[in-house]
Amino acid sequence: MASRSSRSRSSDDTSNPAKSYHYWKRNPEHMRIALSTGGGDAPGLNAVIRAAVLSAVNRGWEVIGVKKGYAGLLGEEECIPMTAGTVRGIAHLGGTILRTTNRGNPFSYPVYLPDGSCVEKDRSGELIDNARKLGIDALISIGGDGSMKIAHELCDRGMRIVCVPKTIDNDVSGTITTFGFDTAVNTALEAIDKLHTTAESHDRVIVLEVMGRHAGFIALHAGLAGTADVILIPEIPYDIEKVCEKIQARSRSGRHFSIVVIAEGAYPRGETVHVMGKSMPGQAVRVGGVAERLAEQIQERTKKETRSLILGHLQRGGQPTGYDRLLAVRFGGAAVRAVAEEKWDHMIALQSPHIVAVPLADILKTQKRVELDHDTMLTARATGISFGD
Ligand code: F6P
Repeated sequence: MASRSSRSRSSDDTSNPAKSYHYWKRNPEHMRIALSTGGGDAPGLNAVIRAAVLSAVNRGWEVIGVKKGYAGLLGEEECIPMTAGTVRGIAHLGGTILRTTNRGNPFSYPVYLPDGSCVEKDRSGELIDNARKLGIDALISIGGDGSMKIAHELCDRGMRIVCVPKTIDNDVSGTITTFGFDTAVNTALEAIDKLHTTAESHDRVIVLEVMGRHAGFIALHAGLAGTADVILIPEIPYDIEKVCEKIQARSRSGRHFSIVVIAEGAYPRGETVHVMGKSMPGQAVRVGGVAERLAEQIQERTKKETRSLILGHLQRGGQPTGYDRLLAVRFGGAAVRAVAEEKWDHMIALQSPHIVAVPLADILKTQKRVELDHDTMLTARATGISFGD
């Protein structure tokens, strides 16, 4: 994509003091904004993109799509002009037409050396220079907590960014929920419903592992709605004996099958989160792979035939539910309004019934986790669900 030379600046500009937003000239009549999607995908991303592009072009602004997180601004992928035509017919589609990565932190970007080894390099200055050369007045960054941290640091370096929260895990604070979560819960719920019939027919225990790296929202919501018997979440380290007690108590009362839902980040008391396989350079450790071991332990202790499965990335795919699609559209429109109002270093959030903009500094202070005295937890316990504690 051609740069606008009248707006390009020298690379020295990147050493500006914190939040020197004056370097990013803005003509409200003719803004040129960029959009990027970073981190793991979530159903609803395309609906945000469509709403943001249409809201911007209908104001007479130009929109640039940055491909694959920030890679488009580091010369490793394209930056493409986005028009009403480029976002036609995408609102209902899963994934992201801009593509994404969870290995694209510009402050510690993986760089491969000729000998095949990999080092992490700070490429943030290069990114900021390129954004200026392209005449980008502001960026809408759609991502999870990792993307928010990066955006906040880039704002400290003078970039003008508004964030839109995205994660199926629902673990971003400051917003009641994120789009993608409802779709993931529905996918998990469908799996639980299907597992019930086969578990009951065979008198088996079935352990279903769902996503939820740090927070157990998917496990809790899908497990409660799907009437699971045991729900294990990262917020409550579990005791295997308690899990088995619940299963055996069910058997004694004539219920010879059980459904156990475990979040990938859940772990037994006295242990820590289970790391799975090797992660790629620049990527956070992969957690999970906990269902199989739990199933073996249950079978060994209860002598009940036990099976397990990992739902995995199925939860990230598919069409967004109506709820997620609407939330995504509202977030996309609100992000463009926040740019018009110069709400830099802010994140769009749902604080029902309104969509608001909250400072990134505030939301980064706390990590959103399942509250143990929340009504969903109280009702789950009151209806007999065990959390293995
Ligand atoms: O988006 C968060 C998440 O879904 C986590 O629950 C999970 O640990 C992670 O993404 C997996 O990401 P990937 O396999 O894409 O690296």
